[in-house]
Amino acid sequence: MRFMDDLRPDAVVGARGDVLEIGFGTGLNLRHYPSEVRAVWGIDPMATEGVGPVERRIAQAPFPVERSALRADDQLPFDSGRFDCVVTTWTLCSIPDARAALGEMHRVLKPGGVYLFIEHGRSRTESTIRWQDRLNPAWSRFTDGCNINRPVDELVEQAGFELRSLDEFKGKGPRLISHLYRGVAMRS
Ligand SMILES: C[S@@+](CC[C@H](N)C(=O)[O-])C[C@H]1O[C@@H](n2cnc3c(N)ncnc32)[C@H](O)[C@@H]1O
Repeated sequence: MRFMDDLRPDAVVGARGDVLEIGFGTGLNLRHYPSEVRAVWGIDPMATEGVGPVERRIAQAPFPVERSALRADDQLPFDSGRFDCVVTTWTLCSIPDARAALGEMHRVLKPGGVYLFIEHGRSRTESTIRWQDRLNPAWSRFTDGCNINRPVDELVEQAGFELRSLDEFKGKGPRLISHLYRGVAMRS
């Protein structure tokens, strides 16, 4: 998602304390975290140990970074209420069971903690939705599991989060993948 890099700084404004980043990928958010962040735990089934650019990003972070090759839609090895903040950027589309992952994210977040996200998902334009629904099975097969038609706000609320702010806007790229949801949700 490098072509959307300009949206990363705003997406992590408000991150603080111990942060759990789901779908850590290649660590592209690390340099954007504000100084209130104490440490980051990055969860991703893709193993990146030994990958030069990723190791450099981790080494340059001004806080400790712990990486684990885990799936967020399995049970996470963290106590309930362990984290001050959970972050996802362009990740919910790729998690096979997004509901299970959001349930785990909600569980490990402290009451009063924040979930920050920027995700692409289901459009609000009928003609685009029709194409998203039609093409999603093939798209998902060719892109290693990316789904283009998930209603991000509904999934977040159904997991028990309280949406505090939500911007929906068109990002760069084709309409199928450029309806963006940027939000702040809380575990109350
Ligand atoms: C489109 S990439 C985005 C990576 C990164 N968040 C970014 O902003 O550049 C989606 C990421 O979700 C990860 N992913 C896929 N399934 C997952 C799961 N079950 N749990 C956690 N992460 C998963 C992928 O390995 C990949 O790194």
